[in-house]
Amino acid sequence: MRLDQLDHWKRTHYNHEITSGDEGVDCLLVGWVQSRRDHGGVIFVDLRDHQGVTQVVFSPQMDEASFQRADALRSEWVIAVKGKVARRSAATINPKMQTGEIEVQVSALKILNIAKPLPFQFSDEEITEKVRLQHRHLDLRRPLMQRILKIRSQAAHVIRNYMVDHGFIEVETPVLTKSTPEGARDYLVPSRVNPGHFYALPQSPQLFKQILMVSGYDRYFQIVKCFRDEDLRGNRQPEFTQVDLEMSFVDEEAVMALVEGMLAEIFRQILGVEVVLPIQRMPYDEAMNRFGSDAPDLRFGLELVDLTEIVRHSGFKVFAEAARRGGLVKAIRVPGGARFSRKDLDELTEFVKIYKAKGMAWAKLNAEGWQSPIAKFFTPEEIQSMAEATGAQVGDLLIFGADKRKIVHDSLGNLRGELANRLGLLREQAYRFVWITDFPLFEMDEDEKNYSPSHHPFTMPVLKDLETHGAAEPSKIKSRAYDIVLNGVELGGGSIRIHTKEIQEKIFALLNLSEEEAQEKFGFLLNALEGGAPPHGGLALGLDRLIMFLTDADSIRDVIAFPKTQQATCLLTEAPSEVAIEQLRELRLMLRPH
Ligand code: AMO
Ligand code: AMP
Repeated sequence: MRLDQLDHWKRTHYNHEITSGDEGVDCLLVGWVQSRRDHGGVIFVDLRDHQGVTQVVFSPQMDEASFQRADALRSEWVIAVKGKVARRSAATINPKMQTGEIEVQVSALKILNIAKPLPFQFSDEEITEKVRLQHRHLDLRRPLMQRILKIRSQAAHVIRNYMVDHGFIEVETPVLTKSTPEGARDYLVPSRVNPGHFYALPQSPQLFKQILMVSGYDRYFQIVKCFRDEDLRGNRQPEFTQVDLEMSFVDEEAVMALVEGMLAEIFRQILGVEVVLPIQRMPYDEAMNRFGSDAPDLRFGLELVDLTEIVRHSGFKVFAEAARRGGLVKAIRVPGGARFSRKDLDELTEFVKIYKAKGMAWAKLNAEGWQSPIAKFFTPEEIQSMAEATGAQVGDLLIFGADKRKIVHDSLGNLRGELANRLGLLREQAYRFVWITDFPLFEMDEDEKNYSPSHHPFTMPVLKDLETHGAAEPSKIKSRAYDIVLNGVELGGGSIRIHTKEIQEKIFALLNLSEEEAQEKFGFLLNALEGGAPPHGGLALGLDRLIMFLTDADSIRDVIAFPKTQQATCLLTEAPSEVAIEQLRELRLMLRPH
């Protein structure tokens, strides 16, 4: 097929624009053939661009040559048409289309490009993600994806306006840099000019933004790519975008107020939703005790109730043992849950096992009392106390977890969400924000011997705690960190930072970093802290996660134009890929067989 050139043809309208008021107007439209319908003497084409669809009509009466060529048109061919706007006859008006009252009668056609038959139909809801990602150029042509990427762009725009209005300046920080620890593995980039040396891609701009504060910029922000080589569960991507910000001479209240204001502005402008300010605050300990999670979903109750003391001396070994070993026994009351079937309970038991629970004891409350495999182990007084503590009523279900603290909280905390799903508690569109505050400075690993920073090692400890507990009881030191959580998802996190060398060195020492190591890894930071560092703090929001809420997307991959799979590959470009032996040689690298 001979293709036409655009030459001097210029678009006059986008495909959503023309209305019945434009009757008789000459226009020039461009776009993709969405469909072609041949009605004998006339051919109808739905012409699509990123704005909308217009019906264009070819007939021998209007232009014989165009009519002849229109016969060849196929889905997704790229064309341009000249024509006149006409009102559709009453019978052919399509009220579902924005341009449904008009059509364009074509007087000239240019075929600008052809397209292979589609590997999938745009309307097909069943297409696999693999096919979509392999053909992302087509997938992104679908109106649903275009809507998402437009909202993403709008949100970034709202954010930039808000930040600039609040006196922030946007500064770009390097991508080829030194390791910035945020708890994941680094992506490394070998240096050709410095053989044997590697850059790390930043896990966040944390250290650069702190240095900008030392340099006196006072208020910095950046919409920035971050890179983390971690296991890609759920809403994580190896490269993702943060709204990163930092402020000088502030306390946590100032940072939180600024971020709340930004979130309210985004929700107002994009969704028309008013976020009630100030957003609720909840200390970490309370979140863990009541919800088993530091990112609690507050759209529903199903709170955890501590029964450890009630069952400490009971005849049920599993519970008594957990209590004796310093663990916890907790329960969730499920209102109306007595109707759950054996199958439901088995499925829930399998669910908690994902989080290392060894089992899931339960009790249904009916008029005669407890119906439960474990009822026989308890005295009437113990049963009475558990009923009172949980507030259980006839018709309810109690679900118990007994284990180490972390396992009980993980399993029951995640079970809340699963129960809410099953009970249909999540249907309404509600946005429940909460700030989690007063985090512990360190997170203990499973055997509670080693610990690592809960956020990152630059977070300011509560100084009184540092003095009182220090190296003897590091788990008791609280930090000045805060997370912003929405419907059970951690949207962002931040903290007031350490701004003196002395405290930073103390924290490095608590983390078992020798002076040499600290100097080698973070010498530039320690040096900067000696250069007149102001008190400062900030936060970073996960932009991708935020966009998921704004677009109601189920997958983080749907809000990123060119995302990676769970295996960290790009199916479109087939990255990562092998490289030529010469490239490796230049970098003085050699691949080991295994
Ligand atoms: P943090 O590590 O909590 O903090 O990251 C901030 C936010 O970024 C988002 N996020 C991710 N989103 C998608 N994929 C990922 N792999 C991923 N990892 C994190 C989350 C998270 O809340 N420098 C600090 C911020 C600070 O202290 O100012 C930091 O990076 O929404
Ligand atoms: P068992 O005595 O091991 O047969 O367990 C009796 C009930 O307690 C079963 O319903 C188990 O699923 C449950 N169970 C076992 N271990 C735990 C645990 N660690 N926490 C809560 N329930 C448990």
